[in-house]
Amino acid sequence: MFTTMELIHHSWAYYLAAWLATLALILLSLRLRRRELNLPPGPKPWPIIGNLNLIGPLPYRSIHALSEKYGPIMQLKFGSFPVVVGSSVEMAEAFLKTHDALFSYRPKLAAGKYTTFNYSNITWSQYGPYWRQLRKICLMELFTAKRLNSYEYIRVEETMLFLRNLYESSGKPIILKDNLLDLNLEVMSRMVLGKKYTNEIVARHEFKEMADELFILGGVLDIGDMIPWLGFLDLQGYIKRMKVLAKKFDRLFEYELDDHNARRKGVDNYEAKDMMDVLLQLADDPTLEVKLERHSLKAVTQDLLAGGTESSAVTVEWAISELMKKPKLLKKATEELDRVVGKERWVEEKDIVNLPFIDAIVKETMRLHPVSPTLVPRMASEDCKVAGYDIPKGTRVLVNVWTIGRDPALWENPNEFYPQRFLGKSIDVKGRDFELLPFGTGRRICPGMSLGLKVVQSSLANLLHGFSWKLPGNMSNQELNMEETFGLSTPKKFPLEVVAQPRLSFHLYSL
Ligand code: HEM
Repeated sequence: MFTTMELIHHSWAYYLAAWLATLALILLSLRLRRRELNLPPGPKPWPIIGNLNLIGPLPYRSIHALSEKYGPIMQLKFGSFPVVVGSSVEMAEAFLKTHDALFSYRPKLAAGKYTTFNYSNITWSQYGPYWRQLRKICLMELFTAKRLNSYEYIRVEETMLFLRNLYESSGKPIILKDNLLDLNLEVMSRMVLGKKYTNEIVARHEFKEMADELFILGGVLDIGDMIPWLGFLDLQGYIKRMKVLAKKFDRLFEYELDDHNARRKGVDNYEAKDMMDVLLQLADDPTLEVKLERHSLKAVTQDLLAGGTESSAVTVEWAISELMKKPKLLKKATEELDRVVGKERWVEEKDIVNLPFIDAIVKETMRLHPVSPTLVPRMASEDCKVAGYDIPKGTRVLVNVWTIGRDPALWENPNEFYPQRFLGKSIDVKGRDFELLPFGTGRRICPGMSLGLKVVQSSLANLLHGFSWKLPGNMSNQELNMEETFGLSTPKKFPLEVVAQPRLSFHLYSL
């Protein structure tokens, strides 16, 4: 006979044994499953950190080096999460064309949660009815060719102002990106909010810092996204920064929404004057498939205002930096402008089709300095096979356009900035040619692509047409630093400082 104490001990031992046996079975089946799966090649992960020890401060450069070793499809582990990287045209096609719907999901990262109103914007919202509706609004309402054309006068007026301001600073060193951000912010603010960027909530310089911060935080590798049980410690301080940033955007958009609502109140058949008006009207529409809540309006406005401001400025800054290194190309560009546009007027958007060298400079800049070197992360929504490898559901996916843009099999002297390579070639940046995907492609392709291209091409063309450029002091072009910093976009680490000198007739700058 057992005593009560013995019975307790026995049943406890029994439960412990049963529990250990179950755990062993689970571990064994996971192991067997993993052995059965044919996962893409990749470095052996460490416990807890996975392969994070191999990822430096510029993750896409580390990923580039690893993909040279492991090939066009490889698997890494960021903490406990598998990350598959596609680094060739074939892999980009597999992820973004053949299996596009399956990989149109986004992983739920901290940036999306904290900085975009709990995944309410277009960029971070999950693939599904809500996201589809936002994309439809972009396609049918916000970025139609008609609407973009109707706003051309805004882009012209703001570009003229920008050029006049540069003229006033001529001879003195300027931070080019700062001026470009001003230009883009004014263009986007007038399109989205219906007015120049003025409000008493967030000063202009502060908004520019916020746009920069949004892009940095959008791309950081936050520990909590990779090792969730460490997330609460916020060891890198990113979550704190995200929350601070979110509060600032929230205050700004609350103010703008109230302001727009006040304008519409009591006016019958109010005619939308800007994109926020269009969004507010859609929010009132009872037939809309998924209701647009106030937080959605704020999140989409943020997508437009910040997305539209930062990416184009970063691209033009890189273009001018590359040209500063190669004065011969600068000369060739101005020769084309003088020949096609002449010295008595500014470049207009319609001139771009006749400026193949300017177009080639933009493409070459986007090849070597894609705004998002590994695009915005995707996620497998189901188990699937790519190139014979198993990609389990939930795997994060990066399409490595940075490496594709430097693939020696596709590009001669891939590391050289050589716009001429595009002359006479039909290859473009609009998602059709998988060797050049600065805007992504497929379902998640950048919805602001047409606008972004217009802004980049016309501001770059006018900068080259209106001014000759030199580096400050006695700095030689060899000394110009070309390092990057990384976030959701990849700007220059040290903003380009340049000196502009007018090269057209005086009266053109006083318009
Ligand atoms: C030079 C300019 C630009 C570049 C290079 C660029 C690039 C990109 C890239 C690479 C993506 C990610 C695509 C993917 O997930 O595969 C993207 C997405 C996006 N871009 Fe742009 N972009 C530019 C301008 C703009 C502008 C002007 C706007 C809006 C005014 C904009 C709004 C967006 C939005 C909302 C998304 C998210 C799309 C989605 O997830 O469905 N972008 N962009």
